[in-house]
Amino acid sequence: MQLDVLTLFPEWFEWFRTQRHVRNAIEQGHEIRTFDPRATTPLTGGQVDDTPFGGGAGMVLRVDVIDQAIGEIYGKDSLEIRKDRRILALTPGGRMLDDRFVDELAAEPGGLTLLCGRYEGFDERIVQRIATDAVSVGRYVLAGGELAAMVVMDAVIRKLPGSLGHEASAVEESFSTALGGDPEYPHYTRPAEYRGWEIPQVLLSGNHAEIATWRRARSRERGVVGPTAHPPDPAGETAAGPDPFGPIGGGGGAPSGPDPFAG
Ligand code: ADE
Repeated sequence: MQLDVLTLFPEWFEWFRTQRHVRNAIEQGHEIRTFDPRATTPLTGGQVDDTPFGGGAGMVLRVDVIDQAIGEIYGKDSLEIRKDRRILALTPGGRMLDDRFVDELAAEPGGLTLLCGRYEGFDERIVQRIATDAVSVGRYVLAGGELAAMVVMDAVIRKLPGSLGHEASAVEESFSTALGGDPEYPHYTRPAEYRGWEIPQVLLSGNHAEIATWRRARSRERGVVGPTAHPPDPAGETAAGPDPFGPIGGGGGAPSGPDPFAG
């Protein structure tokens, strides 16, 4: 997949390109290219932005500058380009990024172009006429679209074959279809007991069917509880107090009774 970023800060992406999974993706033939609209601006002095009509604070990225940049990168009019590839304008009010949206973008055959706003953002005609999608990484305002572009690319790259060491790791992960859209189940590693904090005994049982049932139930439970800063700890007590679900499958406590999500 070709991932092209239009940004006034191309150097931000140098670090991103050196990260292991990104490097793997590049070695597999995927591309990450950056373009600075200052290099192609039709205005003098490298101008790319202007004051908003109607007044107000800040500067707005100009539509003619972005149109020209896209035309020069692809050698075609931007209205033609948007038929062939997704052009994403990163903006806090856009469509919220989630696993389904990431799957959709990762399956895009024509590649992605990410437009990073700065200052007060874009002239709205960039979003309406040039971009195919407005994308938000959350309802808060970043200083610019660069970090948001990296979030989108990171999430997309993880879905591309060969970028993660272990192929299954992007399949059965939080919010994936494999988990019915629920958050991922909790993981534990050695030591099995630390400061009296035991892990759920079922994970030591070697019974793969039981482990799978337990994991699905924990994942479902997290989906039902909904977003929480401190998910229930199935092994026992959390720092926030006793676990409302009680210890599961041992851990020194009393059995919690039948699991409403099991089976
Ligand atoms: N640009 C600034 N804030 C943003 C956000 N929350 N999501 C996407 N792009 C942005």
